[in-house]
Order: sequence, then structure tokens, then C-alpha cells
Amino acid sequence: MSEYKKGGGMIRGIPHDTIEQSLPILAVFVAILVAVGGIVEIVPSYYLDDAEPAVEGVRPYTPLELEGYAIYRREGCFLCHSQMIRPFRDEKERYGHFSLAAESGFDHNYQWGSKRTGPDLARLGGKYTDAWHIQHMRAPRSVVPESVMPNYLWLEENKLDTSKTKRRMEVLAMMNVPYSPDDIANWEVDLKAQAAVDDGEGEDALRTRYERKVWAMGEKQDEDVTTWTDSFEPTPINVRAFDGDASDVTELDALIAYLQMLGKSVHFEEGVDYYHDKFGQPYRK
Ligand code: HEC
Repeated sequence: MSEYKKGGGMIRGIPHDTIEQSLPILAVFVAILVAVGGIVEIVPSYYLDDAEPAVEGVRPYTPLELEGYAIYRREGCFLCHSQMIRPFRDEKERYGHFSLAAESGFDHNYQWGSKRTGPDLARLGGKYTDAWHIQHMRAPRSVVPESVMPNYLWLEENKLDTSKTKRRMEVLAMMNVPYSPDDIANWEVDLKAQAAVDDGEGEDALRTRYERKVWAMGEKQDEDVTTWTDSFEPTPINVRAFDGDASDVTELDALIAYLQMLGKSVHFEEGVDYYHDKFGQPYRK
């Protein structure tokens, strides 16, 4: 063997060739490498208090939105759509302010994703009318001719299955999402109120329950809540027949309710980039 073929690299006395040709040795080195990478990424989140500050106005999903979020996952929308705007200029110009950690703090599991066959949806809320969404979900190519998105015809026909809604909220509450026993007990009236199938009786109660200023989890309840505005105005909950038909609650109602609130809970001032200092206080750059 020539000197060249031997490679020549040495790691603490072991030649490179030996490492690459022996599975056990290679596995040990790979394990060390992955462990170091993992520790560097994971450990800081345990001792940094402000790694994920609670932000005023960011709230968990209402029961109807929660079901919409479940349909989003069931239909695999995440296979083509991300929900995380990165802090780069091109992203901000296209989608809006970059995503904050708190904005997906109540998502289990996260929909950040990285695959963008379609656009990022993190700030989709309010971008289009409900009528646009209805048409786009039925037949994407009827509004965007070059679209490769599938038709989701069944969503407007299927009645929303609410047999798991209460259980979903209970499980999320166990995972520290701050749903109160009152929020959970009223899941059904709130769900119907938001989809406007109850003649408007439940709307005020729904708003009182969900338009709270602070929805911090666990020990952050009384502290560490970041304020982004001088005077807080909650983003109003959308209450209407999202699929254009108030007679019943369909899967499309739930999905559009979810899509229309994405990225709306924090009030960003146009053109301002918000950052945190190391004490968790927001400042502007
Ligand atoms: C096969 C990939 C694919 C899947 C799966 C998919 N989409 Fe899309 N989506 C696209 C593409 C491509 C576009 C851009 C063209 C268009 O608007 O139709 C798009 C656009 C959109 C838009 C408009 C976004 C904007 O800012 O203009 C919305 C809303 C949307 N999709 C929602 C959904 C939902 C909800 C689901 C799941 C039920 C879904 N998509 C599943 C590919 C996909």
C-alpha cells in the first residue's frame, strides 16, 4: 500500500483508516459526536429562563380551532407547509415578522416543519377571506392555476367529529397548556358559539374565556410575561360560520377557524424587529 492510500490522518494515535473500516470504533466516535451536539443544543434550554418567554396575548386554541389543528395534522398539510418564519430579510418581506418561540408554545406537536412545497402559513390569519379559503380548499387550481395542492372536497361535507375534543383539552392541560376546568367543561358551548350555530348566546362567554391577556404556563403565571404593547388589546376571537353555512359544524369550519387565527395573537408594530435582552425584556433594534 502506498503512503497516500493509508490516508495519514491520526486521531489520538488511531489512524483514520482504522476508524472508518471498523464498525464498532466508528460507532463509538459517532456516538460521542452526536452526544456533544445534543448537549450543546439541549442543555441551554434548561438553565435559560428566557429561552421561551410567555408573550402577552398568545393563547391556546379554542375548542373549534383545536379541532381544526387536528384536521390540519390528519390531512398532512405539514407535508407541504411550514409554520416558522425565520429571521431573514427575504422571509420577513414575504411572510411578515419572524416567528417567536411563544407563538407555538401551546402546539403539541409543533408544526414548524421545513418542507415548503407551498408557502409558510405561520402568519396566514386574515390574509384571505373565508370565501377564498372555501374555494381554495375545494379546488386550489380554481384560484391559483399553477397550484399542486390537492382538492380537499370532503372537508365541507363531513360533520366535525367532536367525540375527542374534551379529551384533547384534558390531555393538553396535563401537558401544561393552561386550560382551566371551566374552559374544559364548556368545550361544547364554546365550540358551537364560535361556529355561530347557537344564535349568538355563547359568544360573550367564549370571549371572556379566551381573550385573556396572559396565558402563561406553570411557574411563568405571575412573572416573565413579555409585553409587546403599551396598552394591551386582545386579538378578537373570530366568531362566524367559517364555511358559510351556520346550520352545522363541519370539518371545514374548524380548519378555517384555525387557519384564520395563525400568527395573529401578538401585535407587532409594522417594520419593527423585536428581540429579547438576556433578562427576557423585549427591545427594538
Ligand atoms: C402537495 C402539497 C400540499 C399539500 C399536502 C397542501 N398544500 Fe396548501 N399549498 C400548496 C401549494 C403548492 C400552495 C401554493 C399555491 C396555492 O395557493 O394553491 C399552497 C397554498 C396554500 C394556502 C395559501 C397560502 C398563501 O399564503 O397564499 C393555504 C391556506 C393552504 N395551502 C392550506 C393548506 C391546508 C390547510 C392543507 C391541508 C388540508 C394543505 N394546504 C395541504 C401545497 C400543498
